[in-house]
Amino acid sequence: MDLVMAIIVAGMIVLCFCSVLLKWNEVKYRKEGLPPGTMGWPIFGETTEFLKHGPNFMKNQRARYGSFFKSHILGCPTIVSMDAEINRYILMNEAKGLVPGYPQSMLDILGKCNIAAVHGSTHKYMRGALLSLISPTMIRDQLLPKIDEFMRAHLSNWNNKVINIQAKTKEMAFLSSLKQIAGIESGSISQPFMAEFFNLVLGTLSLPINLPGTNYSRGVKARKKIISILSQLLEERRASQETHLDMLGCLMEKEDNRYILSDEEIIDLIITIMYSGYETVSTTSMMAVKYLHDHPNVLEELRLCLLQKEHLTIRERKKLDDPINCNDLKSMRFTRAVIFETSRLATIVNGVLRKTTQDMELNGSLVPKGWRIYVYTREINYDQFLYPEPLTFNPWRWLDNSQESQSYFMIFGGGTRQCPGKELGIAEICTFLHYFVTRYRWEEVGGEKLMKFPRVEAPNGLHIRVSHLTR
Ligand code: HEM
Repeated sequence: MDLVMAIIVAGMIVLCFCSVLLKWNEVKYRKEGLPPGTMGWPIFGETTEFLKHGPNFMKNQRARYGSFFKSHILGCPTIVSMDAEINRYILMNEAKGLVPGYPQSMLDILGKCNIAAVHGSTHKYMRGALLSLISPTMIRDQLLPKIDEFMRAHLSNWNNKVINIQAKTKEMAFLSSLKQIAGIESGSISQPFMAEFFNLVLGTLSLPINLPGTNYSRGVKARKKIISILSQLLEERRASQETHLDMLGCLMEKEDNRYILSDEEIIDLIITIMYSGYETVSTTSMMAVKYLHDHPNVLEELRLCLLQKEHLTIRERKKLDDPINCNDLKSMRFTRAVIFETSRLATIVNGVLRKTTQDMELNGSLVPKGWRIYVYTREINYDQFLYPEPLTFNPWRWLDNSQESQSYFMIFGGGTRQCPGKELGIAEICTFLHYFVTRYRWEEVGGEKLMKFPRVEAPNGLHIRVSHLTR
């Protein structure tokens, strides 16, 4: 009996202690004018609930507090905005003090000249330099031929094999960008580079504590090695004085009418390009393969596309080794629709992060200086008024081109930082799908887990058995 009493008393003490801690944390962040919401535990806030329940946590909080509420997630007091109008306002008004708010680990590892770390005029010229590398003309004349050549080689020899399509699309996104950036082919230097790059990516999503053996410390080391590889490349190119038709060649060119980037800026811009296009392109490609497998009618339409004349028709017009060109890309309207529908239904990007550089009023509430704002766009993707039967994979809904220019379309972000790599990313995924669906049929080995939150990934890989497409 005494033991039972002791357990009950201990339980009550723990309960009291917990509610005092919760209350203390609420009081700590109590300030006139803040939006409604809860702040959870000291230090940890509501991170555990957020990571465990993900989208449902957000929906529950919205049901209680509306589309604009406060919380404490991932180490920071945060305002979550799920309101399409306010989200647009936030993304359009960086100049009013709503700057990117990505985690410290990301800023440390991607570098201080990384595009997410710079604002104002520096952002303008860094973005300008980037846009000149991936303009429609550059895609047509320089990048698409490289992408095409890469995809042919990457997708050869898959016949009669079990392939982990997650690993293959990750390699694809990295190696394809390496070829575009510096003309580096898959082979000796790309392999150690890729291993370092994967460490760098893991490091950007870790706690910024530099202890040996942590992902953060591996990421910091990977950054140093990548800087050394790229610096050596810059030196070799300067010494040889050859012209190179790739992104690095363009960045090193000294044109009178252009701001000349320092070596540090060039290196951070190259890391930005590799990083920004890596997970987005690889995951969208993997999920497109998954959805096409699960929806044979969509795959059939994609291959034959009687109205749109897509992949098989494009192939029939060409000799075996003819590359695809920009006109072919333009004609892939249904493929573009498959890519958008994949990004929408899988929600590859849940939202973007901003932080305030000063106290400000938003949606009639106070947002204190230094707070994070999570522009959470995930729920728009499942809005039944915007996307009827939102849980159905239906690429046809995107054939009406106006869908892409709607203000609520946030798959590629919005405002001053809208994705500059959108068309390049789409070109890569279209080319990958072109060679994949015209060469192969495939079936899933089966039963593999797919996580949708906080990131879309297959923890044990996604294995498919591939065989030649016979017609
Ligand atoms: C399916 C593919 C892609 C998706 C879904 C995607 C999505 C996004 C989103 C949502 C943003 C906004 C981030 C923010 O506002 O904080 C963004 C920004 C950015 N993306 Fe992409 N992206 C893709 C492909 C690419 C590629 C291939 C590149 C390579 C050049 C790229 C480069 C960038 C850069 C540099 C930014 C930052 C722009 C700035 O801060 O001014 N993206 N992307």
